Amino acid sequence: MLKNTLKKIVGVSLMMTTIIAFTACGNKQNSSTDNAQDKSQSAAMQKIKKSGKLVIGTSADYPPYEFHKSVDGKDEIVGFDIEVGKQIAKDLGVQLEIKDMKFDGLLAALDQGNVDIIVAGMNPTEERKKSVDFSNVYYTAVQSVILRTSDKDKIKSIDDLKGKKVAVQKGATQEEIAKKQMPNSQAIALPKISDLILSLKNNRADAVIVELPVATSNVNSNKDLFISDIKVQNEVEGSAVAVKKGSTDLVQSINKTIDRLTKDKSIDKYVTDATNSVE
Ligand code: ARG
Repeated sequence: MLKNTLKKIVGVSLMMTTIIAFTACGNKQNSSTDNAQDKSQSAAMQKIKKSGKLVIGTSADYPPYEFHKSVDGKDEIVGFDIEVGKQIAKDLGVQLEIKDMKFDGLLAALDQGNVDIIVAGMNPTEERKKSVDFSNVYYTAVQSVILRTSDKDKIKSIDDLKGKKVAVQKGATQEEIAKKQMPNSQAIALPKISDLILSLKNNRADAVIVELPVATSNVNSNKDLFISDIKVQNEVEGSAVAVKKGSTDLVQSINKTIDRLTKDKSIDKYVTDATNSVE
């Protein structure tokens, strides 16, 4: 009963926020006389140009892709995805704003217009392509399995993980990888990478699947863990930027930026720099 009432209150206040947001948007549109609207632009592009900022959604639990770091005593979100985001914003001629959220909330945030693009080490899977469009791939990593050092001699193959718990990030491709490639293990999906690492350290899970650069960063700061030789296959190769469906002009602009950063090897440099700056 109380639960239902609470639900209603939450529902109503959520609706109010939405309405306020819409009203705010409407006012802004009416009052802006400069920035004339170009009908040939996608809605996403118009929004970005008009507001003068690109809002990127990310899940900053994924070093060296994106992570929190204290810079001059201030908490900042850094990583090679963020550097790519900065360049995309620069080429669009707008400011960059970063919104940090749970990985499994990113697609909904894009759909609802809370973010303009997603840069979060996201693989362009067929399933996701049903609801969003993707840029070209800007970086490719292999998958890896993290184990406890104390299990080094006990767990050497996927078979050895039979009946054991494998921790993966909720909403991530690793969830599928665990289910398909480790059908005899029990997959446990948790919201944040730090949750996965902690569950492995505390014996609540026996293995973690993440992309190799993330595994390396986490193993470097956790001496009781190591990257195993167990091989799992990527379902879909590479990270790409997600945009709202139909934003062709935005995808084209992002692809141009990615092209430039790939050709002049900037991406490689961002990856190295970000990897070195993980604490
Ligand atoms: N590459 C995986 C996927 O696309 C995992 C990405 C997780 N990213 C993050 N920022 N936590 O599902």
